[in-house]
Amino acid sequence: MRIIVGISGASGVVLGLELLKALKEQAVETHLLISEGARITFQYETEVTLDEVINLADHYYDINDLAAPISSGSFPTGGMIIIPCSMKTLSAVAHGYANNLMVRAADVCLKENRRVVLVPRETPLGKAHLKNLLEAADNGCAIIPPMLTFYNSPHTLQDQVDFLIGKILMQFGLEHRAFKPWSGMRETDE
Ligand SMILES: Cc1cc2nc3c(=O)[nH]c(=O)nc-3n(C[C@H](O)[C@H](O)[C@H](O)COP(=O)(O)O)c2cc1C
Repeated sequence: MRIIVGISGASGVVLGLELLKALKEQAVETHLLISEGARITFQYETEVTLDEVINLADHYYDINDLAAPISSGSFPTGGMIIIPCSMKTLSAVAHGYANNLMVRAADVCLKENRRVVLVPRETPLGKAHLKNLLEAADNGCAIIPPMLTFYNSPHTLQDQVDFLIGKILMQFGLEHRAFKPWSGMRETDE
């Protein structure tokens, strides 16, 4: 399966990096996009280089390369994940404003009825953000905010990240090794 991964310029770009690492353990061919905003956010929030991120993917495209294969519906993919998804990119996806390859690729997936998962990151959410989330959901996107989990007894930040990645991969029928699903039992009962 081919999955397009878009990393946009919201806080938590490391989530995109962690998703790429998780997808390396799957029989998935990854196609990566990094927005201009994400490039800046990587510098502010992490110590990884862009090359380290890009090397985790099977294919990488310049965000302005609107002639790339993923710009066309005739190039088959299983869908797309935008993680994290900035409010700007959310707005563009919600309204089909395909001015770069990230939004164009999402637009293509939606018109071809392929899965598009958005991991929107902003807090608090303003009215425009909430309206755009509803618009995106109406257009077929799955909205998976990076919410904290408590019911599976997380101990570390990595546990939180693994929970999020598990929920995202479930959308594509994939299982994440480190994901602890709800078992119906308290940890002390297990
Ligand atoms: C360090 C940093 C953190 C940011 N965090 C967020 C955020 O959490 N959510 C958001 O919507 N925008 C955030 N922004 C602003 C976006 O990067 C900005 O709106 C940018 O134009 C988004 O463009 P893009 O979606 O093409 O990456 C942040 C910017 C920086 C520099």
